[in-house]
Formats: sequence, C-alpha cells, structure tokens
Amino acid sequence: MSRVNFGAKPLMYPQPVLIIGTYDENGVPNAMNAAWGITTDFKEITISLSDHKTTDNLVKKGAFTVSLGTEEQVVSCDYVGLQSGRKVPDKFEKAGFHATKSEFVDAPLIDELPVALECRVKSFKDGILIGEIVNVSADESVVTDGNVDVKKVRPISFDPFANAYYGIGEKVGNAFKDGAKLK
Ligand SMILES: Cc1cc2nc3c(=O)[nH]c(=O)nc-3n(C[C@H](O)[C@H](O)[C@H](O)COP(=O)(O)O)c2cc1C
Repeated sequence: MSRVNFGAKPLMYPQPVLIIGTYDENGVPNAMNAAWGITTDFKEITISLSDHKTTDNLVKKGAFTVSLGTEEQVVSCDYVGLQSGRKVPDKFEKAGFHATKSEFVDAPLIDELPVALECRVKSFKDGILIGEIVNVSADESVVTDGNVDVKKVRPISFDPFANAYYGIGEKVGNAFKDGAKLK
C-alpha cells in the first residue's frame, strides 16, 4: 500500500453535525454547528469549542442541548455554523428554527431537529466542553418500536477533507454481533 500524508490536521470521517442550542441571559435562543464532538462516557459528551456566543451562553446558564443535524435542515445547520449570534441576535429565528425549552435543563430544544441530548455543563476549560447528558429525547415521528430510527431521522455527517455534508448510507452490519463469526 502506498500512503499519502496530509500532516497534522483534524481530519476524521465521519464527524457528527452537532447543533448546540443555548439561551442567553434574556432567554434568547441561539444555535451553532459543532463537528468536533462525541460522547465520551455513558452520560458524557465532549466538544472542542473556541470562543462563541454559544460558549458565553452555556457558561452563564450551565446548560445546552445537542441536536443531530439532518438532511432536511442542512441549510439551516450550515448557516448556524457560519454566522455568530454575537453579530446577529435573531440568528436562531433567521435559521428558521423554533425553540421549546427543555424540561430537564435551561436550554432550548430545536423543534425542527428531532433528536437531542439535553446536557448540563460539567466543565469548560481550555476549549474543551464536557457535558453531563441528563436526557435524550426524540420527536415521536422518528421513533419506531420504542427506538430512534435513524432512517427516519436522516442525520448528516461532516467530511472535513472536502468540507461537505453526507447523508447516511445503507445498513451494512450488526454491531456486537457480526464479528462473532470470527471468534
Ligand atoms: C461544519 C462546521 C463545523 C464546525 N465545528 C465547530 C466546532 O467543532 N467547534 C467550534 O468551536 N466551532 C465550530 N464551527 C464554527 C461555529 O459553528 C461558528 O463559529 C458559529 O458561528 C458560532 O456561533 P455562535 O457565535 O452564535 O455561537 C463549525 C462550523 C461548521 C460550518
């Protein structure tokens, strides 16, 4: 095999498209796009964040939501990654999003995005946000037999090699099962 080197860069695929929802001190909702994040424990999510309106908000409120970006909302999801709530106070509305307050934390759920993690801030230090997942909720339209059906959600992933968003493909295997054939 002949390899091509790209140097030290944050290149990984797939990256999630996480839409972070927060309220400011006046209860105005904001949303931003974050691709450098992942769940890191049973009730924990870790996201790499620089300085944003979102970080101002989540430090003040101690809470945030993380919704999965979807194919249906790809334009809005990208928009909230391009524009800051610091410059555009009605950014959330301009994105076409509508907010419903989480029952669990002081942060907005985004009506247009069906799956969300509702989180409390555990720490935000050196650009690393660690959140405690207090609840996961999904709109009933994407739930089949008591479980989230990703085919209904149609989440998107981010490709940092080409700055592109992709939809999900076909199911290709069963986790914790298919490998057992080689045991
Ligand atoms: C695809 C994509 C992924 C992004 N991922 C991150 C990220 O992981 N961390 C981060 O700090 N900013 C990330 N950004 C940039 C923020 O979303 C952007 O600066 C946004 O305007 C911040 O909004 P706010 O100031 O209203 O909070 C990303 C943007 C895009 C388009």
